[in-house]
Amino acid sequence: MQLLCESVGVQFGSRSQPVPVLRDLSFAVGEGEFLTFLGPSGCGKTTLLRVLANLIEPQLGKVTRLPSPGDRNGHVRLVFQENSVFPWMTVLDNAAFGLEMAGVPKADREAQARELLARYHLAEFAHVYPRHLSTGMKQRVAVIRAFLSNPSLLLMDEPFAAVDSQTRFRLQMELLLLWEQQRTTIVFVTHDLDEAILLSDRIIVLTNRPSGIAAEHPVRLPRQDRAAMVGGPEFLDLRRQLSRDLGLPAWDIQHA
Ligand SMILES: Nc1ncnc2c1ncn2[C@@H]1O[C@H](COP(=O)(O)OP(=O)(O)OP(=O)(O)O)[C@@H](O)[C@H]1O
Ligand SMILES: [Mg+2]
Repeated sequence: MQLLCESVGVQFGSRSQPVPVLRDLSFAVGEGEFLTFLGPSGCGKTTLLRVLANLIEPQLGKVTRLPSPGDRNGHVRLVFQENSVFPWMTVLDNAAFGLEMAGVPKADREAQARELLARYHLAEFAHVYPRHLSTGMKQRVAVIRAFLSNPSLLLMDEPFAAVDSQTRFRLQMELLLLWEQQRTTIVFVTHDLDEAILLSDRIIVLTNRPSGIAAEHPVRLPRQDRAAMVGGPEFLDLRRQLSRDLGLPAWDIQHA
């Protein structure tokens, strides 16, 4: 699915005390593209994803979804920053939920869910309820559920923010593998510059609220070598540039 976001403006608050959040935001997302948004806390990244998911109607501008020829189902899935799993369902039922909605028979959907649970190191928790999982484990279940429904557009709001750095790297690699297999269009939000560079085709940096576009960078590092380039000169060049765009202090640019 392709997306076209034209002059989108969103504000909260009352008429007398408006809180403008997004201002005149225009961008396009290509079919199968992995686009990441970086931006200061509270600038409106989650709001933007909610607009793209059609959960919020922008007061100004419009969002157009363009299904591509052969587009699978037109489904849009959003993985939230937190609480993305259903507490009343087991891990297996959560993971298979999208397939159940699509009418996939029980044995088939459970087999597919179990395969991904195993890849995400959750096989032994298949029959456990989410309250017994750590935050990071819950997020993994949410990612599996989103991918299993084979969406045309996947919106991900800091899905790995609560995961420790070693697990995070494994999950990032798994996510790329799934994305390469399914070629879903992904709009991703993170605070983590390395994560943005590692995963994305393109990165858009947002300004402070009300958010507009501060900068935009294609990530030209070859995908097959990217994981090995972390910390290398080209990787650090882009990282420094992103830090400047975000207005991080010089200390952060050198050491973050
Ligand atoms: N439903 C709402 N009603 C009123 N204000 C809201 C609502 N949702 C968000 N806001 C305000 O809009 C601003 C942007 O919030 P949003 O959650 O989109 O930021 P964010 O960039 O995702 O932040 P973070 O990086 O901390 O996740 C904040 O000032 C927030 O208080
Ligand atoms: Mg947010």
